[in-house]
Amino acid sequence: MSTIISSSVTNKLGYSMANAVAEYSRSATLFDSERAILDELSNEISNSRILDIGVGGGRTTKHLLDLSSDYVGIDYVPELVAKANDRFPNAKLGVGDARDLRAFSDESFDFVLFSFNGLDALSPNDRLLVLAEVYRVLRPHGVFMFSSHNRDYKYFNRLPWRRKFQFDQEFLRFFAYCMYHLPNHWRMRRHQIFTDEYAVVNDSDHRFSLLLYYISRDSQVRQLESAGFDRCQAYDSAGRRTRGDRSSHWLYYVARKKKIS
Ligand SMILES: C[S@@+](CC[C@H](N)C(=O)[O-])C[C@H]1O[C@@H](n2cnc3c(N)ncnc32)[C@H](O)[C@@H]1O
Repeated sequence: MSTIISSSVTNKLGYSMANAVAEYSRSATLFDSERAILDELSNEISNSRILDIGVGGGRTTKHLLDLSSDYVGIDYVPELVAKANDRFPNAKLGVGDARDLRAFSDESFDFVLFSFNGLDALSPNDRLLVLAEVYRVLRPHGVFMFSSHNRDYKYFNRLPWRRKFQFDQEFLRFFAYCMYHLPNHWRMRRHQIFTDEYAVVNDSDHRFSLLLYYISRDSQVRQLESAGFDRCQAYDSAGRRTRGDRSSHWLYYVARKKKIS
């Protein structure tokens, strides 16, 4: 009999593993799409109050500090926050959980970022809690930017041998990685969830140890609108606005808190 496990719990363990902490503490580079979107938003968010959720080892910290010194980064994995603090001793970085932002008052930020699909680590119910908390801490018209795995991705839920491939070095390396870690996938895949709105799948990330949320662009926009956001815009992996895309593994979203009348 299979037990029901919460992806929120499983994934927090995954992000706390030494190899994940080391990986997320190395990078300081923005993705092309992040750079393009932050450029587009720069007039709106420069010198504003910024909250960086799921800051990990601090990949985005320097870039956001360049936009505003009024910056706070949080992550629920203390080991990652410690690494981020080592890298940016003058930044305001602390342990905090996106599901419970009570440490921050209502309408206390102009811009909230949850980068690199961190939101997808939450269980479907917890994801909605996060959207409500982000909505609460944003000022009216404040901007929420995040990325999320794309359910319309052409290789959604496909192991390498079910993809179109060439026998090049990259494919062989990925194939070997998948074969080696396949026992993890067999253990985890019974916890996968498929609904009309979203899927929670055990993909190849982190040696097949996570359960990650995938959603199509239209469903994500509907979900944001139900949480009170409007002017929701999706971007592909090159930072172009999109109404749906099969070649981006994840999409970026920018949404604004509605002005309460
Ligand atoms: C894929 S990693 C990205 C880390 C970093 N943003 C980066 O881009 O390198 C996702 C991050 O989200 C964090 N995270 C996931 N759920 C969270 C939650 N409920 N509250 C705070 N952080 C969370 C994880 O600990 C992890 O550091």
